[in-house]
Amino acid sequence: LALSELEMEGATIVLHSRALIVGNGAREHAIAWKLAQSKHEPVLFVAPGNAGMKAQFRLANVPADDIQGLVAFAKKEHIDLVVIGPEQPLSSGLADACLAAGIPVFGPTKAAAQLESSKAFAKGLMRAANVPTAGYHVFHDADSAKVFIHDSALPIVIKADGLAAGKGVVVAETRDTALTAIDEMMVNGQFGSSGRTVVIEEFMAGTEVSLMFFVDKHRAIPMQPARDHKRIYDGDNGPNTGGMGAFAPVSQFMEAGLTEVVQATIVEPTLRELANRNIDYQGVLYVGLMITEAGPKVVEFNVRFGDPETEVVLPLLSTDLLDIMWAVAHNTLSEMDIQWKNEASVCVVLASEGYPVSPKTGAVIEIPDNLPKGAVLFHAGVKQSEAGELCTAGGRVITISVTGSTIEEALAVAYETAEVITFPGKQFRHDIAKKRSL
Ligand SMILES: Nc1ncnc2c1ncn2[C@@H]1O[C@H](COP(=O)(O)OP(=O)(O)O)[C@@H](O)[C@H]1O
Ligand SMILES: [Mg+2]
Repeated sequence: LALSELEMEGATIVLHSRALIVGNGAREHAIAWKLAQSKHEPVLFVAPGNAGMKAQFRLANVPADDIQGLVAFAKKEHIDLVVIGPEQPLSSGLADACLAAGIPVFGPTKAAAQLESSKAFAKGLMRAANVPTAGYHVFHDADSAKVFIHDSALPIVIKADGLAAGKGVVVAETRDTALTAIDEMMVNGQFGSSGRTVVIEEFMAGTEVSLMFFVDKHRAIPMQPARDHKRIYDGDNGPNTGGMGAFAPVSQFMEAGLTEVVQATIVEPTLRELANRNIDYQGVLYVGLMITEAGPKVVEFNVRFGDPETEVVLPLLSTDLLDIMWAVAHNTLSEMDIQWKNEASVCVVLASEGYPVSPKTGAVIEIPDNLPKGAVLFHAGVKQSEAGELCTAGGRVITISVTGSTIEEALAVAYETAEVITFPGKQFRHDIAKKRSL
């Protein structure tokens, strides 16, 4: 790793690499936490990070969407590796800007990020590569979309083409719901330019699993499969959220050999088709899967770590994450052997009152000094009040992450922790990882 910071330890000179993690959520906190365990003892910066990370990491006061500002910061601070958390900077070309400035980066270029930033692009690529996914049509005008819906089977899935912060998909049980979604997206501009083009998909029945891969120019290596819980209330009721909890691994998925199936029938053909179009992929490829009766099919691709999946998957990783990210950035992933702990991992998200519809913020958070043994906190929507107290500042506030020899063991610690951390209006799901069969 590059020579950056020198530290005298007796007669030995220790070389510390310097990494910049871009983003401000629990996902970025989990990445930074894992990198901090690296044997290379890197110096870690998070831009912009949040108040809950301040004690452990150096925060850079640069927003995640300020591409020029981030590149300037990375140059000034002699950053050896930029790790990009969220999709927004990836789709606006932060990785390209880093590469142009000669800074190694973990995260795909803007061209490769189209797998997430355009659902029409992703579907076209899957069709060309013969990757199993729902049948679909792309529409650029509302009238033809509506004509198509009149003759379609139900339910039917309507998706805004572009990024929509997880709100751009409607699974319509009735024709009216589908037609309203078309009006909202294509006529009323609910998602701005993201909804000008719409993908209409066949509905797939099954269970959803998330499988992420480390990817460089030559190779893709799977992580452990995970499942998240999207609805706000127990029993999968209420509106969709950014994710209220997760668990990993999904044993049944692994035992059925589905990791290998997904690698061979989905990830490899997808990366080959990208390469055919002169697009190399570097970073994390997140495959959102539906396990149907006909096998695993792609729901969507994300071009970065999932949130909250990252908070359960990274704690299971045995191999040094900095070594992996360094290898990805330098296309030497083929030389890596990635190992996982033989443990189970869960996370429970503490959310603000009113989340996801209209989260209240500014509630004072009380965290006891002696948390239950094994509980790790990843901070998301938190800030420091003028009085210096940690306060809520968003919908998802803190992710409690725990590993154990079994899911039940980890859950017991996670829920004990969810009770002892308090703030007015706190809500969380009580049934994370209860249902684990496919
Ligand atoms: N073809 C489909 N069949 C059934 N459910 C779907 C389909 N496409 C999406 N969904 C559901 O909608 C959710 C969101 O869709 P997704 O494509 O992942 O969009 P995003 O995460 O960008 O909002 C999925 O997690 C899944 O529950
Ligand atoms: Mg999704």
